[in-house]
Order: sequence, then structure tokens, then C-alpha cells
Amino acid sequence: MVLLNKIKNKLGINYRKKRWPGLIEAYKQYLPVTKKTPIISLNEGNTPLILSDSLSNLIGNETKVFLKYDGLNPTGSFKDRGMTMAISKAKEEGREAVICASTGNTSAAAAAYASRGGLKPYVLIPEGFVAQGKLAQALMYGAEIISINGNFDKALEIVRDLSSEHPIELVNSVNPYRIQGQKTAAFEIVDDLGYAPDWLCIPMGNAGNITAYWLGFKEYLKIRNLKLPTMMGFQSEGSAPLVKNIIVKDPETIATAIRIGNPVNREKAKKVKKESKGDFQSVTDEEIIEAYKILAKEGIFCEPASAASVAGLIKNKNRIQKGSRIVCVLTGNGLKDPDCAIKNNDAIFKKNIDPSLKNITKILGY
Ligand code: F0G
Repeated sequence: MVLLNKIKNKLGINYRKKRWPGLIEAYKQYLPVTKKTPIISLNEGNTPLILSDSLSNLIGNETKVFLKYDGLNPTGSFKDRGMTMAISKAKEEGREAVICASTGNTSAAAAAYASRGGLKPYVLIPEGFVAQGKLAQALMYGAEIISINGNFDKALEIVRDLSSEHPIELVNSVNPYRIQGQKTAAFEIVDDLGYAPDWLCIPMGNAGNITAYWLGFKEYLKIRNLKLPTMMGFQSEGSAPLVKNIIVKDPETIATAIRIGNPVNREKAKKVKKESKGDFQSVTDEEIIEAYKILAKEGIFCEPASAASVAGLIKNKNRIQKGSRIVCVLTGNGLKDPDCAIKNNDAIFKKNIDPSLKNITKILGY
């Protein structure tokens, strides 16, 4: 047996045991699905938990910082986890159309999964505040897109009213199946580490994801008799309704994904904070961009909203206990927002260069 395992390791078989079937199939005993549920999946989930040497060193004190890189989901964000559930259940219930308000990622995921399942996706987005990659996805995946002269909060208000009056399924995070799907990210972290981290650092917009992680940790750790993490939620300073406990009328931030002034999951988020003895804090756009650059220099390109979790961690450097294990959630892929990267980088980028070997050798300093 030992010899067989050694051979398998050499051949790489043990490292890629089985084709990943998608998160509903993988975790179905924890999810509200039955044999009758038509599973609409793009094999989402199973994203890497990457140890960050640069952040571990930056925090110091024998801390280990891991990144849950959920930007590697099929549509490039954690929304796929919730959407595989929400669309599968909408189909099971005989719905023919779904709708959402979105700062971009939800619309991309809703469009992809709805189209795959044969349902019609409608999306409302705030005009001028959706990153290019996300818009391109919604266009390509077959959504009908309505761009409003208003912000995300207004769009959500409209789709909530619409879906309560017409047979269109709402797939924002007020849909309980979204939270069910998203909780699997917590399962994966525990599966990978064998325990929960001391801190989970996560960006917050509508606060669906922090609610989902907490639910996931509670469910998974209870049966394993393991310790729960402290939940650290971060928002942008110009868009921090949960930190300040107010409604922000005109939220502003470079992190357009979390440009939300009135989160629908406010009460649930407050409960998470209390139960986990966690904290909600804000980070400035400058701190977000700083973290965004640190991550990219280690080969991990996330979108600005995701970097808020790392900016928040760095802000708390002096509060972190020796030997802590920390997970920062990177919710979306950097490719979603190319404009932000092109405007905010320290690259050496020389343009209009004469294409001669001599010239380029000289430029490189050889
Ligand atoms: N990170 C990214 C990349 C997001 O797209 C979002 C939310 C969040 C974090 C915050 O998650 O709302 O569960 O607290 N994006 C939504 C959207 C609002 O429409 O794509 P949350």
C-alpha cells in the first residue's frame, strides 16, 4: 500500500484524484438540494488557498497569511458559488427568468448560469460604475442589461419590487440559496487547513458573503468540534455603511464592486460581528491600491474590492497575536477591472520604441 502510494505520488495521481464535480455535487449533504434538483454548474468552487510569503513576512510574528483566491471561479468571482445554487433552485421551481441588481460580478455570474440553465437573465447596473471585464461578461453571456442613472442601492430596490410582483426569480444575496452556495468556501478552507483560521478577513458590500462564510464555518466546525474564526469585515472609507452604522446616500470608492450605501444583509452582518467577536473597519482607496499592488507582485491579481481584505489585515498588523493563521478572501479576479490596473501600477512601460536589437539592448542596459 505504501509503495503503491509512493508510485502514485510520483505519477502525480494522488494530487489529482478525481475530476472536481462542482460545489453542489461535492457538498450536497450540506445543501438544500434533492435528487430532483437540476444542477446547473460550471464546476465552480475548489479554488486555491495560497500561502502568501510577502504578507506573512509583512505581518511577522510567526503569522501565516493565506489567500482564498475565489477569483479563479468560472466567471472570475465568488458569485459563482451562490449562483450555481440560486439558478439550480430557480429552475427546479419552474422559473423561466431571473433578475438581479449588480455592481458587476453578480450580473456576470447570473447571466452565465441562467443562460446555461436555459433561463432568461435580466440585470440592472449603475451606469458608469461597472468595471469593463464584468460588463463584457454580462454582454457575452446573454443578459438583457438595463443600465440605470442611479447607484446599486436604487437598482436593488427596483429589482426587489419587480420580483415580488412578477414571476422573475431574484438572485441577489437576499435569495437564501445564494448564501447556501457561498458557505462552501468556508468548507473548503477547513478542508485545506484542517482547522479554521484565527481571523477571516473579507471585503463587505451587501454583506452576503460574510454571512455565508459565518454560516459555513458554524455548520462545518460544529460537527468537527473545532474553534470558530474571528470575522473581520472591511469596507471602503467612502462606502462604509456597516462600519459607521448609517445609510450612505452617495457611496464612492475606487472599488466599484463594493460601492454600496445600504446593504440588505445589514442585520445578519451585525450578528456575525457579535457572534464571532469580530470587527468591521474601513480602509481608504489608497490603502486598497497599496494592497492590490503587494498582491500582484506576488503573482496574485485580484480586483480592488478584494484587496480591501488585505488592506484591512495590514491595518491591523499590531493587533495580530503571535503565530496566528489568517485567511484573506480574494473575491474577484484582477482581469475584471483592467482600467484600474492600467491606472494604478508601478510598471516600467516604454512605448513607441524603435524595434532594433541594438536599441532594445541599450534600453535594457546590457
Ligand atoms: N468583492 C467583490 C469582488 C464583489 O463583487 C462583491 C459584491 C463583494 C466583494 C462584496 O460581497 O456583497 O456579499 O458583501 N458584489 C456584488 C455584485 C454587489 O453586484 O457583484 P457582499
